[in-house]
Order: sequence, then structure tokens, then C-alpha cells
Amino acid sequence: MEIISWRDEFSVGVAEMDQQHKKLLAMINRLISEQRALTDRKTIADLLTSMTAYADEHFRAEESLMAEYDYDRKTVHEVAHKAFIEKTRSFCSATKAGSNLLAEALLDYLGTWLVGHILKEDMQYKSFFKNKGLS
Ligand SMILES: [Fe+2]
Repeated sequence: MEIISWRDEFSVGVAEMDQQHKKLLAMINRLISEQRALTDRKTIADLLTSMTAYADEHFRAEESLMAEYDYDRKTVHEVAHKAFIEKTRSFCSATKAGSNLLAEALLDYLGTWLVGHILKEDMQYKSFFKNKGLS
């Protein structure tokens, strides 16, 4: 997995969400570079745990914004968030238990999921929030 650079097309038009997406992307990029540098497993497991905690925090912020404005696709969106958290939590446990799962496949999953989620599901709320006057 290559480091993912932020692109303008990732912007969902809500500054707070863009900032959180940038931070999440930076955390995933850090995992990619630490894995490449063959950093010890404990450090990697800690970074993975922090990234998961931050993703959870970000998802809750996104979902409460959706609740506040009564976004019609909120439930479907929450299912996607939940699936990601469950998957990353199982990666966390496996990594802590000593499995070397944090290899290409996992990093591919994290990077591909986040970019795909922003471009597909998150992008669906762009015009909705814009119409509500958010920026
Ligand atoms: Fe989302």
C-alpha cells in the first residue's frame, strides 16, 4: 500500500469533516510507513488502536451531524461505519495477540476503505449539508 495523499476531490464541503478525514488519513499513512520501516509490533498495535479510537470519534461526530440535520441516509451510513470499526478492532486484537496480520492486506483494507468511503458514502452528504448552509 502506498501513502495516500489528500486530494481536493476528497473534500465533502464541511471543513470540520475534512479536517477529521485528513487526520484519519495521516494516521493510516503513519501505519503504512511504520510497517514499511518494520517497526516493532507493539508500536504498530498502539498506532492501530489509536487510529481505531479516532475513527470511532470521527464517525460519532459525523453521525451526530447527520442526526442534527435529519439526514435520510444516516442508518445506511452507520452500518458502513460499524463494519469498519468491527474489522479494525479485530485487527487490533490479532496484532496484540502477536499475529503479523498488519501486512499489506490490512493496510490495503484501511487505505482503500477510507478513500472509498469518503468518495462514495460521505460524498453523498456533500450536497445535502451544502443545502443546509454548512461549510
Ligand atoms: Fe462516513
